[in-house]
Parts: sequence; C-alpha cells; structure tokens
Amino acid sequence: MHASHHIFLCGFMGSGKSTQGKKLASLLRMRYIDLDKHIQKLENKTIESIFETLGEKHFRDLETKYLKELVQEKNPKIFSLGGGTVCFNNNIEFIKSSGILIYINMTAAALSERLKKSKQNRPLLKNIHPDEINNFIEQKLKDRQLYYTQAHLTIEGINLTATDLNNAILQFKKHNEKK
Ligand code: S3P
Repeated sequence: MHASHHIFLCGFMGSGKSTQGKKLASLLRMRYIDLDKHIQKLENKTIESIFETLGEKHFRDLETKYLKELVQEKNPKIFSLGGGTVCFNNNIEFIKSSGILIYINMTAAALSERLKKSKQNRPLLKNIHPDEINNFIEQKLKDRQLYYTQAHLTIEGINLTATDLNNAILQFKKHNEKK
C-alpha cells in the first residue's frame, strides 16, 4: 500500500460501487472516477458496443490500460471499478499496491433482485434467461469471490453509507500505520 492512497471499490455488478463511490468522493472531497464511464467517454462507445463489436478480451485490455493511466496521474482518487476489473490481467496486484481496495459484499439473492431490473444494459447478463439469472449470479459470484476477498477491506453492501466506508478506511489506515 502506498502513502498517497487511491481508494478502489470492487464488487459484483449491482453492489453499489458507483453510488457509494460518488458519495464517498463528495464526503472526502476527492476526485471520483467511474472506470466504466471513463472508458465509454474516452473510447466514445458504450460498454455494450465494445463487448459486441470488439469482444470481452478487448474490453478487459481497455480496463487495464485506463486503470494504469489514471493511477499513474498520482493525485489520489476514488475509483468505482467494473465488476470484473479485479479478476483480469493481474489488475488486482496493481490495484492493491496503488492504494486501498474495498470489496462491497452482497449475497447472490440480493444482487439477483437488483440486477433483474437492470440486466438489459449489462452485456454479461443481457442474454441470460430471467429464470436462469439467480443461478448465473450465484455461480459467477462464487468464481469472483476468489478475487474480491483479496481486498484489503470487506464491507457489507446492504444499508451501506459513505460514512461507514470512511470509518472503515480510517480504521484500516490506523491499524496499518501501527505495523
Ligand atoms: C462487468 C461489470 C460492468 C462492466 C462490464 C463487465 C463484469 O460494470 O464493467 O459490463 O464483468 O462484471 P458494473 O459492475 O459497474 O456493472
């Protein structure tokens, strides 16, 4: 972990990374980056169209490229990562050595409820039959927890507030300064 901490929020689609990231950035008066939005802006394409026309591998490489560019800018930022960012291209190593990585944890059941309503604009869920969504999320969450649980901090996503996040970060920093 570095002295000038970037703060990264990871977790499954629908776990609240963007909502919480925005709130935390305004609480801490830090610059906020939504990695998906940043990619869409700089590539001038939606995430869906990148997946459709160029494929997932291309999207994963764009995630890594923009993540590295932004981190190297140095001024500390709050990042809402995409749901898969920490699972590809060894990004997790890079992220963990560049700041504090926080996992917003939610159960597959809670995620399914949220994602059923917004599956159409998410390329990984778009073609899954509504009856299969629960199973799909359960399995994918299980696979991804291998990565998510390597975060420096895990925090429960239900009823989470920016103040809870900030307190967890302060506690983590205090504990690590003592070491
Ligand atoms: C993805 C999650 C999305 C986006 C892309 C792939 C994933 O971000 O990066 O559709 O692999 O889980 P959100 O978690 O913000 O929906």
